[in-house]
Amino acid sequence: MTEQFEFTENEGKVVHGTADTSVFGEEVRADAKQIVARYPESRSALLPMLHLVQSVQGYVSTAGIEFCAEQLALSTAEVSAVATFYTMYKRKPCGQHLVSVCTNTMCAALGGDSIYRKLSEHLGVGHDETAGTPGETGSITLEHAECLAACDLAPVLQVNYEYYDNQSPETALELVKALQRGEKPAPTRGPELSDFRGAERQLAGFFDDLESTVAGPSAAVETLRGAQLAHERGWTAPSMPDDVALPPLPEKK
Ligand code: FES
Repeated sequence: MTEQFEFTENEGKVVHGTADTSVFGEEVRADAKQIVARYPESRSALLPMLHLVQSVQGYVSTAGIEFCAEQLALSTAEVSAVATFYTMYKRKPCGQHLVSVCTNTMCAALGGDSIYRKLSEHLGVGHDETAGTPGETGSITLEHAECLAACDLAPVLQVNYEYYDNQSPETALELVKALQRGEKPAPTRGPELSDFRGAERQLAGFFDDLESTVAGPSAAVETLRGAQLAHERGWTAPSMPDDVALPPLPEKK
């Protein structure tokens, strides 16, 4: 069942709800303290804290909202406002893998919509829905994505935010079938494929296995081609004048 966010705030004071946060055990609380220690103001730790919550539960539950509020001395309404604004924070439990198909302009023109349609038909789910039992091996959450910043390699999709470039409906279907069998095909670029919760832990800033999380080429030949041509032809960009006056910043209160 999908949880609904229900939070209260009383005259600007932090008011915590009644959600049971015991799912976040001692280790998670120690990780939360580490995250908070990275910032001069504890509230600045909210974004990685929400990723930490997702690494535990596979989504941001009411308990996750409550946990963040407790740790950061925020109201649950404040945490909820952030968690519901960004699409990377999921409001329903995610599958083992999150498959994001880019259907923005460049990818759509080159077949992104066909890829999405093929995967949707195969999985029997639509946007933001999960095929299989969330969290179990082979379960997959499918989503449309806006531009994934890899237009030169379109059409692309991501699995747990790792790139699979130059896809077609056929290659995307093979990839998803492999994921359903419990396999983890190597991304085109970047590190080895983890799972959604593992990726969320990395987004919270924890790299438990540094070797596998940073290994792999991160730049594609296509992406570097412009810089390469400029280098070969001796093209340079005009330098910025260094005497441009910047607008004054407002006084900090
Ligand atoms: S439009 Fe798909 S990556 Fe930019």
